[in-house]
Amino acid sequence: MDEINVSVDKAVEHFRNLLLEQIERENRMEKADAPKDFAAMEQITVGVCGGDGIGPIITRETMRVMDELLKEEIESGKIVIKNIEGLTIENREAKGKAVPDDVLAEIKTCDVLLKGPTTTLKGGTLESANVALRRELDLYANVRPVSIPEEGIDWTFFRENTEGEYALGSRGISIPGKLNMDFKVTTESGTRRIARTAFEFAKNNGKTNVAIVTKANILKKTDGRFSEICHEVAKDYPGITVDDYYIDIMTANLVNPRIRNTFQVFILPNLYGDIITDEAAQLQGGVGTAGSSNTGDRYAMFEAIHGSAPRKMERGEGEYANPSSIIRALEMLLRHIALTDKADKLKKAMDICLETEKKVVMTGHADGADAKTFTDYVIETLKKI
Ligand code: IPM
Ligand code: MG
Repeated sequence: MDEINVSVDKAVEHFRNLLLEQIERENRMEKADAPKDFAAMEQITVGVCGGDGIGPIITRETMRVMDELLKEEIESGKIVIKNIEGLTIENREAKGKAVPDDVLAEIKTCDVLLKGPTTTLKGGTLESANVALRRELDLYANVRPVSIPEEGIDWTFFRENTEGEYALGSRGISIPGKLNMDFKVTTESGTRRIARTAFEFAKNNGKTNVAIVTKANILKKTDGRFSEICHEVAKDYPGITVDDYYIDIMTANLVNPRIRNTFQVFILPNLYGDIITDEAAQLQGGVGTAGSSNTGDRYAMFEAIHGSAPRKMERGEGEYANPSSIIRALEMLLRHIALTDKADKLKKAMDICLETEKKVVMTGHADGADAKTFTDYVIETLKKI
């Protein structure tokens, strides 16, 4: 019993520190940086990290697309590409840090980052590099578009990216032999800023409805407040209808062909956003087809929606990994840095390659095209536009 009392005292102290730290984080959010005006910038530095597993393969291919699209901008010095080494699982394990200090310092010298998937270990103490980067760079908005044109589906998911179960996911409490507890954090400013980002997007893109997706019937403090804050923000957007859904039924709705094309914009706490966007990407054609942006007021990171696919690597099928997801992420990156024409051009090429022409088909396995052949096709298509 004594041992348990000691563990409980330690846990209470740990919890107290977490509370103070999270309040401090919320205070910092209130003083947000003014967003960068990319259109007015003379030089934009794009950092590139290959990551692990299939990461270096699909990133390498995406770089070829970038070189083709941005030939002039790179030559004139408007765009500077910076390769950043060291975001590999080997180096992260060796340094015992999710993002080694020197790598983080390099990343912070860039305006935007294109990132290949990084391996996240189950258990242990090493935090996910994604989660660490999202926190360190305060990338609070995870935006994941999914479209299925033949069904009239055009969804955009706004996943809160720094809070929920992720904020303290590596820092829960164990009372050995008795129980384990993790925490979920929902802050006022943290919720308000993701809600604002989603509603602004809806307003600027002619969207008429927003779905708030939580489990507020069960998690009354965190999800309950998340939903309330979204409704408060919604008051500034009178033309947009807002509906609440629970995550379980929304998961079903996305596979219900009778209603799924009525949804447009979704706002979700972190973990639900993680899960449901894999489902949505799969409906679009597979997780290998969806890009993802992680944006904050100061930095932005663009990546594939999926992970580093270690099983694919073990099977020796890495070269057959579909680079579409990270090429789509490149499109989002170009839009973010105000190179809208280039982004439109890339979107057009990808739509031709993946939807209308489909001359090169990938299956993710050796019975389909490999990443290089598919990317050659994208580049050839780009040249014709
Ligand atoms: C994602 C991924 C990450 C997440 C993993 C790799 C930590 O699944 O970006 O959706 O859980 O957020
Ligand atoms: Mg995920």
